[in-house]
Amino acid sequence: MAKTPDLTPAGTTVLAAPVKPESVTAISEKLSRPTWAEISLPALRRNYARVRKLADYRKLMAVTKADAYGHGAPNVAQVLEACGADWFGVATVDEAIELRAAGVTRPILLLGGLYMSDPAALIEFRLTPTVSSTARLDTYADCAHQFGQAVDFHLKVDTGMGRLGIPPNLLESFMERLADLNEGASPSEGRLQLSGFFTHLASAEDLVATQTDDQLARFTRALGRLRALGAEPRWVHVSNSAALLARTDVQENMVRVGALLYGYCLPLALPAGSERRTPAEFEPVLSFRSRVVFLKDHPAGTPLGYSASFFTRRPSRIATIPVGYADGLSRALSNRGQVILRGSFARIVGNISMDMTLVDVTDIPGVAVGDEVTLIGQSGGLSITATEVAQAIGTIPYEVLCSIGKRVPRIYLECPDASEEPSPVKRLGNILR
Ligand SMILES: Cc1ncc(COP(=O)(O)O)c(C=O)c1O
Repeated sequence: MAKTPDLTPAGTTVLAAPVKPESVTAISEKLSRPTWAEISLPALRRNYARVRKLADYRKLMAVTKADAYGHGAPNVAQVLEACGADWFGVATVDEAIELRAAGVTRPILLLGGLYMSDPAALIEFRLTPTVSSTARLDTYADCAHQFGQAVDFHLKVDTGMGRLGIPPNLLESFMERLADLNEGASPSEGRLQLSGFFTHLASAEDLVATQTDDQLARFTRALGRLRALGAEPRWVHVSNSAALLARTDVQENMVRVGALLYGYCLPLALPAGSERRTPAEFEPVLSFRSRVVFLKDHPAGTPLGYSASFFTRRPSRIATIPVGYADGLSRALSNRGQVILRGSFARIVGNISMDMTLVDVTDIPGVAVGDEVTLIGQSGGLSITATEVAQAIGTIPYEVLCSIGKRVPRIYLECPDASEEPSPVKRLGNILR
């Protein structure tokens, strides 16, 4: 964890040393702009423990790509490594180097695997690439020979996502090329080692459609074919968060989990009549907050914000909040979203601007400049989740979390009693009006 709190620079994520919840007010008041995201490290640890339990005998790859889904990858990865995460999964070499710079020592899989301008980074930072084609093998063979070191890679097979991954019918030619490239190469000359085999599920949350069953059947056949060709990958991994929750029939010795660690998952679609299984016990780790910076009273009939998409219908008290779509508060929430203020839900009115948002506080007594506003998270017994925000604007919680911008400082919270469970809250449910 970074030792020195660095609270001021705009345009950077703050890597603050963990603070106690009661210190957040003081910290947020020192920010040049009072808009921030709180990351609860105890909640992250509890989610890790829940994932660990579900994974059972399987190893756990923590997916921390996209800045750990907006939570700040260096600090999140440090905490998860201390919890015992076996592997980390990232999208790019830069993301992997960021984890190494933060002191992460566990193996890192480059899930993207396509963009590697500097092969030396693989060796220097001990990164494991994903290979999805025979052509890519040649690049890694050059790398292995150039540095005289073995390069471990994980082979991805496309079983139905239609994205990365080798088609199963090309496994034979892939293995032939691998044997050719390795022929005669002594360990000191650098060999390519197929140490992992995996696929990605397109709709594991959907237990009504048969796509996942089809993908799993294709994967089992592909693994059998690979073994028949003489390969015995040490790591076999398929499950993402939804599969970990929903399936018990996946052949693997590792899972790749992101969303659940951060307290989210796509809602599971279950066959009619089956018992509802929800990931209720997983806790959102991130809260997105700001403060009222300006208050104004308007008569009825006043246009508010760009393009006058809202006119007050009564004499109204309108609060300005210094957060906008450039911070990840989607413009699609204009005239639809709500926030929590003084223990009440308050409506967003007018179009959300790049840096500012207007909220109708007419019905909330006593609102004052400096009051805390919760955009995502719990406050005063109320709650707004990233899933609710996502449902309101037709997207998924992943996008809501990843969109929280770089100029929003992340403050890492450490509770005195890490085992303390959060108290029940009233949920917004559906923030659409
Ligand atoms: C290849 C791969 N594996 C695993 C994951 C983790 O998925 P989830 O966040 O749903 O657990 C992702 C995330 O998008 C991914 O791209």
